[in-house]
Amino acid sequence: MREKLAIKGGSPAVNVKKYSYPILTKEDIQIAIDVLKDGKLMGSPGSPQITALAKEWKDYIGTKYCIVLNSGTAALHAAIAAAEIGPGDEVITTPFSFLTSTTSILYQNGIPVFADIDSKTYNLDPDRIEEKISEKTKAILPVDIAGLSCDIDKINAIAKRHHLLVIEDACQAHGATYKGKKVGSLSDMAAFSLQWSKNLTTGADGGLLVTNNEDFCLKAEMLARFGEIIKPGKKRTYNAYELGWMYRSDELLAAIARNRLKRLDEENALRQRNCEYLTKELSKIRGVIPPYVPENQTHVYYLYIIRFDPKVLGIDISPRIFRERVQRALIAEGVDIGQWAGRPIFSTNLFKLRQGYGKGCPWSCPYARKIEYREEDFPVLMDFMDDFAVIWSLQPPNGLDLIEQYVEAFHKVFSHLDEVLNYH
Ligand SMILES: Cc1ncc(COP(=O)(O)O)c(C=O)c1O
Repeated sequence: MREKLAIKGGSPAVNVKKYSYPILTKEDIQIAIDVLKDGKLMGSPGSPQITALAKEWKDYIGTKYCIVLNSGTAALHAAIAAAEIGPGDEVITTPFSFLTSTTSILYQNGIPVFADIDSKTYNLDPDRIEEKISEKTKAILPVDIAGLSCDIDKINAIAKRHHLLVIEDACQAHGATYKGKKVGSLSDMAAFSLQWSKNLTTGADGGLLVTNNEDFCLKAEMLARFGEIIKPGKKRTYNAYELGWMYRSDELLAAIARNRLKRLDEENALRQRNCEYLTKELSKIRGVIPPYVPENQTHVYYLYIIRFDPKVLGIDISPRIFRERVQRALIAEGVDIGQWAGRPIFSTNLFKLRQGYGKGCPWSCPYARKIEYREEDFPVLMDFMDDFAVIWSLQPPNGLDLIEQYVEAFHKVFSHLDEVLNYH
């Protein structure tokens, strides 16, 4: 293949139309209009759309309870608070995630303690958890990153041995499975996000908290509604039992999410077809490492993560520079590729400068133990940060015509590596 590279003025390899996400169907819009016409938009306890979404999601996941909230962050925070994680309590989690996996711990004055990630799944490495457990540890908070379950059996076994809770951030993994069970059904509590980019979305924001534990459910519900106990059909007393928040969702968004839930499995299957095809083709290119899916799991590809490996090509260059140059050429060819959450959570200013509640709190709180966050303690993560990339636009209705052109773009770039790496 000797066509001119797009970075050098050649024609881009990708020229089919790309559909952005999400697309609201006619039916989604009609359902929203019906709710608007009804005029009752507020998501009070017992509101029909919210109540139906909670039931449909708990049935889909296979848990006893579900609470509909206004974001995944709200669901995570409500779970942390329902677990009674408080000042100085430690929660072991992954440094590769969206910020609020971790800030939800800080919101309760808890202290995040990070363990390194697994080099193949990019999820919290269960073999690095036990060394982080202290007398202050209360819970483990794994994330199902990119749409692939964490190794929940191993994590649950550690939690059981040390009497810890497992609160799962399943915000990216709607419909993914682990040993035949839905992600979110195997931990003490799990949070899902319905934010616009997620495999299941309201088109805007939303969150779902699932659990099999009635006490956690009641407590999370109370805290998410101002700390009050508000029951449908019962007079409101305006008594706050604890410090709570306004995490209420609404009928319009719940109705849209319900309608989209009907298509979730079908849309996940189309993503899987696109992504599995891409994996098959990219695995033929030396220097590209496509996603790994462990046996007994299904991946729902909220993110499609690859890694670059210049070493196998015998090229002596830093992996970060290799990635930057190859990525620049792929973008010019029309591939949607880049970094998502391109820094460890502990490398944000929030952590580096301990900008929590002021005066160093909660880290400086008298209940807290001194915790250091050092990049050198996370060798797998730091290598990953240098060489990973995310490929986007793999969701339907984008189809194999686009994916085939992505593959062509990779071949084109990798067959001109000298030019790609030396282009300034
Ligand atoms: C892993 C993860 N955790 C938490 C969240 C927070 O969800 P939300 O944006 O709905 O608050 C997101 C998504 O944004 C996420 O990807």
